[in-house]
Amino acid sequence: MNPKRRPLIAGNWKMHGDAAWAAALAREVAHRTARARHCDVAVMPAFPLIPAVARVLEGSPVALGAQDLSPEEEGAFTGDVSARMLQSVGCTHVVVGHSERREHHLEGDDLVRRKIARALGAGLIPILCVGERLAEREAGRTLERVETQVRIAMQGLDEAGASRVVLAYEPVWAIGTGRTATPAQAEEVHEFLRGVVRGLFGYEVAEGMRILYGGSVKPDNIRDLMACPDVDGALVGGASLDAESFSRIVNFAE
Ligand code: PGA
Repeated sequence: MNPKRRPLIAGNWKMHGDAAWAAALAREVAHRTARARHCDVAVMPAFPLIPAVARVLEGSPVALGAQDLSPEEEGAFTGDVSARMLQSVGCTHVVVGHSERREHHLEGDDLVRRKIARALGAGLIPILCVGERLAEREAGRTLERVETQVRIAMQGLDEAGASRVVLAYEPVWAIGTGRTATPAQAEEVHEFLRGVVRGLFGYEVAEGMRILYGGSVKPDNIRDLMACPDVDGALVGGASLDAESFSRIVNFAE
């Protein structure tokens, strides 16, 4: 973490719970993180749960996000959800290119790029997820892989657009496995990614860009991760489903 950048800690609730559960969790998260002045906090429930969570979070500094969006603006796209719909129900953030979307819905980098553009067009902050699979890491291809993902996803953006993107480095082998990247592994990739962004969009955009780490973030490893100069927050899955553990992650500095 670097004092120049305001950290973001975001909870990705994935396909868990129902409306009552989500409202209760959001209420508890808002309560337990109310004193957190050192970072932005966001929660990302599944689509149908968003209005219930929005009602609870009204007036709270906890931001609301979605887990995906359509690359299309509007029209006959059964089952899809547009950026404007998300914005109209109170979302400010949206996850794009999560590895579970890439894996289970075969989302490729070009689709991710179109979604990023659509999110920015609607005034949403995209959280662009990149990360290597275990086999790619073992083959020494981690940096090459994440560089390709970032280059394609951010292609065509101008500096103003790029500066609104939040990056999330999420090694696929660390997601939901309890196997967190070491702080050194995370820092190596984060520093590298900042360099990639510098090459594409210049020094200012790169220095301002928040790069989150995701993959088995827990209350007991967040401090070491946040101590890395290029780690600017976390994207939290499993540990965000419990208000106590998520708020301990948010309040890591206490
Ligand atoms: P995890 O998920 O914290 O359960 O590993 C992280 C993510 O998918 O963003």
